[in-house]
Amino acid sequence: MYNNPKVTYPSISFIFQSIVMEFTFTEEQIMIQQSARDYAQRELIKDVLERDAKAEYPAHHVKAMADLGFLGMLVSTRYDGGGMDTISYVLAMEEISKVDSSVGVIVSVNNSLVCYGLEEFGTEAQKEKYLKPLARGEKIGAFLLSEPNAGSDATSQKTTAIDKGDHYLVNGTKNWITNGNSASTYLLIAQTHPEKGHKGINVLIVDRHSPGISLGPHEDKMGMRSSDTHSVMFTDVIVPKENRIGEDGFGFKFAMKTLEGGRIGIAAQALGIAQGAYERALKYAKERKAFGTEIINHQAVAFKLAEMHVRIEAARHFCLKAAWLKDQNQPYGTASAIAKYWAAETAMYVTTEAVQIHGGYGYVKEYHVERLMREAKLTQIYEGTSEIQQIIISRAIMND
Ligand code: CAA
Repeated sequence: MYNNPKVTYPSISFIFQSIVMEFTFTEEQIMIQQSARDYAQRELIKDVLERDAKAEYPAHHVKAMADLGFLGMLVSTRYDGGGMDTISYVLAMEEISKVDSSVGVIVSVNNSLVCYGLEEFGTEAQKEKYLKPLARGEKIGAFLLSEPNAGSDATSQKTTAIDKGDHYLVNGTKNWITNGNSASTYLLIAQTHPEKGHKGINVLIVDRHSPGISLGPHEDKMGMRSSDTHSVMFTDVIVPKENRIGEDGFGFKFAMKTLEGGRIGIAAQALGIAQGAYERALKYAKERKAFGTEIINHQAVAFKLAEMHVRIEAARHFCLKAAWLKDQNQPYGTASAIAKYWAAETAMYVTTEAVQIHGGYGYVKEYHVERLMREAKLTQIYEGTSEIQQIIISRAIMND
């Protein structure tokens, strides 16, 4: 057929996708999923409510994540990482976040924002010095992009990194920094040449304990309360020139490229939150009786569960597709925006319905679904709001 000049052929990318895309996991992927599930269901569940109430950092769980190889799972073995693929990462993130999104976001930021950025764009010396300890989970990283007046509008960076010859002098404030206190290594985005706009932005590796760095208080968040989120203030902080990643002015593109992968992690996290709430609602609906029967036998409840299930299935497909594209070294920016958008919206929808199915019990802490609902909200906001994902998706459609 493919030798017949009269036949209109499908595009190469279509052939490639239709041949290679499979709906089965490898044994290794299933083992990784099981390992994350075991730890989450056995250990994270024990103190998740208490840590949420006290907004307490999950230090012993972060250590366990390092020991299990999850903190650097995406980093190649050459740099002491787990050398796992992005599909495995999605599976693990879902299992962890089904139970505890605070631990989920620590794993996600370390892997897909900090380690990825260093491995993909850093020099050999930077990888030796900074990536390896992060990949082993001996150190934690943070990604400093957002500012008090530059959240969605990320090009409006006000933090400055002035070129002083052999070093940069950094001044300014970063906001909402996940791992702000627990991290040892910061990837800092800052403006070096304001007259050049986004082309004047750089990314610097900064030691969190450098003189001139101070932190705001631990943010008292609605959800994901046990991950540490802080403002970080820089006053005349000296950063050696060799700590710049990439060419002068590469910082904004670095942030955008890195966030493409980060959004797969957060999409998988949102998927986990939705799946966790759905499983709890399904169990409750099979046990709780009203009007002489288990409430799942009432169509009003059964249809809610059906809708929740369908939306979750779609979110899972979007997450795996984005991960698969990344693993195949194909462009995945739009796919990751679609996955993040849909999974976050699904998490909010599903958790809200899960609370509704639980009725009064859903509104108290013991049943977990109100916590999952609070956690879902953040997935619509960080690493690009749902509206930012819509911008990315709509621009891709327009350029198609
Ligand atoms: N890859 C490479 N380059 C990219 C890119 C990508 N995905 N997206 C944009 N760029 C480039 C563009 O090509 C352009 O470069 P040129 O001028 O050389 O062509 C440059 O970047 C500017 O692009 P835009 O004109 O599209 O910029 P914009 O001002 O319209 O903004 C945006 C684009 C997508 C809205 C971007 O600002 C954005 O993603 N905003 C959201 C920021 C965000 O996600 N923040 C999350 C904070 S981090 C966090 O939450 C971490 C945590 O702790 C959990």
